[in-house]
Amino acid sequence: MPKHSSGFSTRAIHVGQEADAETGAVAVPIYATSTYVQQEIGKHKGYEYARVSNPTRTRLEKNLASLEGGMAARVFASGMAAINAICTMFKTGDHVVCGHNLYGGTPRLFNQVLTGYGIEFTYVDTGDVRNVERAIRKRTRMVFVETPTNPLMAISDLRAISKVCRQKKVDLVVDNTFMSPYFQKPIALGADMVVHSTTKFLNGHSDGLGGVVVCTRPEQAEQLGFVQKAAGAILSPFECWLVLRGVKTLAIRMEQHDRNGRQVAAFLAKHKKVTKVFYPGLLDHPQHELAQRQMSGFGAMITFETGSLANANKMLRKVRVCSLGESLGGVETLISHPATMTHAALGEKGRKQIGITDGMVRISVGIEDVEDIIADLDRALAAI
Ligand SMILES: Cc1ncc(COP(=O)(O)O)c(C=O)c1O
Repeated sequence: MPKHSSGFSTRAIHVGQEADAETGAVAVPIYATSTYVQQEIGKHKGYEYARVSNPTRTRLEKNLASLEGGMAARVFASGMAAINAICTMFKTGDHVVCGHNLYGGTPRLFNQVLTGYGIEFTYVDTGDVRNVERAIRKRTRMVFVETPTNPLMAISDLRAISKVCRQKKVDLVVDNTFMSPYFQKPIALGADMVVHSTTKFLNGHSDGLGGVVVCTRPEQAEQLGFVQKAAGAILSPFECWLVLRGVKTLAIRMEQHDRNGRQVAAFLAKHKKVTKVFYPGLLDHPQHELAQRQMSGFGAMITFETGSLANANKMLRKVRVCSLGESLGGVETLISHPATMTHAALGEKGRKQIGITDGMVRISVGIEDVEDIIADLDRALAAI
């Protein structure tokens, strides 16, 4: 039985992934059941109804809590369902401070759904901790940070922000989707909760949607467990199983994503058709040192500037190894256009305010042979 102190890969492969007690099956069974037989009124084996709990889900929650260094985890039907679940703990008049450059779907949920319930949101550049401190009010319940940001790859200092949050008695919640727990451990840096779209690196194979909230306190786990039961946006046993299978190779995938990411970033930085590259591993990234301190790798996410929408489209039409599409974190290289895809909901003005241009292209570097990825990008960039 691996301990909490075991290495990352050992925990990824064994925590929650113990052999099945009844049959010895090495892989966690998919418990495809909606309900459970009870022995008598009020007497059962801990499982009553599948919206409330499911053994495959329990296994995944145990595994992800261990990987992030939390005390418990709760999984949901998507990353957005996980973020929404946290916000259902707030009341009318509560206030949230969040980064001004989040995944576009997050401000869409905040501005177009949750403000309707009287929850207020203030967007600041969390790259400067003083902005966070200034924005916190009496009714602030949460500071929500994504680092690196999507798609601009700006870094926020989690240790410094967590210090401010502790002083002001506000929870710090970090969306750790881009780095995965392999390269960044927000709880160790002071975060109160961590969220992921498991759709991305945790699943790793672009074959399932999911989300998780990792908790540091029992009352968070209890409240979020109640939200699973009450609101019902839980992750299905099959999709839990896909993530359980995916995380077994998370460490080696992340190592390869990172190796390829560094080489692709270096190639793009030298390319004459590319005017700017956003990647924390590059020496000229304004927060390169902070990234080095806070993360144990730079990862696979790179954004670069092609100069115009027409240029972006010309190159995106030509890629063959890279797949043009939304999402990230799969073994295959995915390439996307933030202005019309992930960040379309911000509108032109919203994008301009934070510096997202029509010429920007975002790439989630996969684990294919890096020479093939680079040759594909080179060929595509020749179209500009
Ligand atoms: C950083 C980040 N957070 C959250 C989400 C939302 O996750 P999902 O698509 O699983 O709902 C995404 C999706 O792209 C994301 O990139």
